[in-house]
Amino acid sequence: MLSSPAEARTVRHLIDSESHADYVYMYPPRQAYRPFSPEVLQRLPQLVRHSLDHSDILNLYVHVPFCRQICSFCNLYTVRDGRADLDRYVDLVLREARWYAALTDRKQVASLYLGGGTPSILAPSQLERLVSELLALFSVAPGEVPAETALEVDPASVDVAKLRKICDAGVNRINLGYQSFIPTEVATLGRVRAERSGTRLLEEALSVGFANVCVDLIYGLEHQTDESWRTSVREVARIGPETICAYPLTLRPHTGYGRRGYDHVNGAMLRARYAMAHEILTDSGYRQETHVRWVRDGGGYRQKANHWALQNILGFGAGARSYLWDLDFRNGYSVRHRQAVLESYGRQMEAGRLPADSGFLMTDDERRRKMVALNIQSLDRTRFREMFGTDPFEEFPDELAALTGAGVVASDADRIWVPNRWLGDRDLFSQLFFSADVRRKLEEFTYDE
Ligand SMILES: C[S@@+](CC[C@H](N)C(=O)[O-])C[C@H]1O[C@@H](n2cnc3c(N)ncnc32)[C@H](O)[C@@H]1O
Ligand code: SF4
Repeated sequence: MLSSPAEARTVRHLIDSESHADYVYMYPPRQAYRPFSPEVLQRLPQLVRHSLDHSDILNLYVHVPFCRQICSFCNLYTVRDGRADLDRYVDLVLREARWYAALTDRKQVASLYLGGGTPSILAPSQLERLVSELLALFSVAPGEVPAETALEVDPASVDVAKLRKICDAGVNRINLGYQSFIPTEVATLGRVRAERSGTRLLEEALSVGFANVCVDLIYGLEHQTDESWRTSVREVARIGPETICAYPLTLRPHTGYGRRGYDHVNGAMLRARYAMAHEILTDSGYRQETHVRWVRDGGGYRQKANHWALQNILGFGAGARSYLWDLDFRNGYSVRHRQAVLESYGRQMEAGRLPADSGFLMTDDERRRKMVALNIQSLDRTRFREMFGTDPFEEFPDELAALTGAGVVASDADRIWVPNRWLGDRDLFSQLFFSADVRRKLEEFTYDE
């Protein structure tokens, strides 16, 4: 990681020396979260209320951590459990949501995202209940589903009949976590994959009537080759969902990969695979939206875009994260004691206590850093000035001078951006804007969670 602005001068060197940085999709990264003190926990309702009062717009997230298997690369908060009591889980989530709803006026709900884990294991009736009750609690227009009402779908957990019911329940975007279209690669992820769940399922999904079908792929997987990666990307592009996300692999200890020693990926290889995906997708008519997302005809990922625009995202469920104006927090996390997090969530909710346990208190300085770190690929200077009363070049003169000096960031009066040539390295540049406090916390962090 780049540890000071001065080191930005070596940005080109880092790129040349095959360095790579993990995907920066939140700021601060969760490794900078710390357990909340009793005083902060006591102030939590006040902090949440103050954050929600800051805006008329709200985004809702529900974490459904249950999965049929724990995939080798995955370090998300998930529990291996195909027999979970999902009705009880939905009850707990709604109880948590009611608690937060009592703190705030109704809002314009810009997005509702059900993620995981595998939220597609919910029955359509459970989904419908979640969507309608959450909107009844938070929305100024509870009869209207948000422009993005999204569900993450494990392709092995659905067939076209279930997808139709999911669509009828009000879901207008599905996120299909394929990761690869090569059966042998999928098998090495430890994934159960039904025979129908490849190409045919994706074609069927596109016929159901969702406004936005998204396919997730990962590059850098064990046993993946340049050629097999191209095959996966070409296959998805040929079928043509509205959104394609191609993520560089993030490696973490205590995952299947970590345990079997697959713990290093080469930066040059990742850069090459990023470039391959970009070429195939743009040649197929996709427009690049960020360094991990290509879209066509109404594609996109609103909740992520809204998060990066510093809108409030309020999350419910075991392991859920909330990103609010005054603080980020989460309802537990562990990859070593997965069941304990779920049990603790249930106990807290049944005792009438909030399950939030750790996070990060934002300051004005951290919000400015968040805005630049998450949006360096295309930062609206006018919007930044409206929000903070100052220009990014005044706030971060050394960092931006170093990046523009190295030729990897450009600017005009309205915008700062990473030119296409360097977009694949956006995460290296984002890290330059991390505060000293966040850097210290990242350095102190140990993966014994
Ligand atoms: C929140 S996860 C969704 C998980 C979902 N259950 C699934 O697998 O379909 C969203 C996407 O992040 C990506 N992802 C998850 N873990 C990753 C990792 N360790 N490295 C790179 N991408 C990852 C995957 O493409 C995944 O589909
Ligand atoms: S990748 Fe998806 S399905 Fe696999 S363990 Fe992670 S959340 Fe579950």
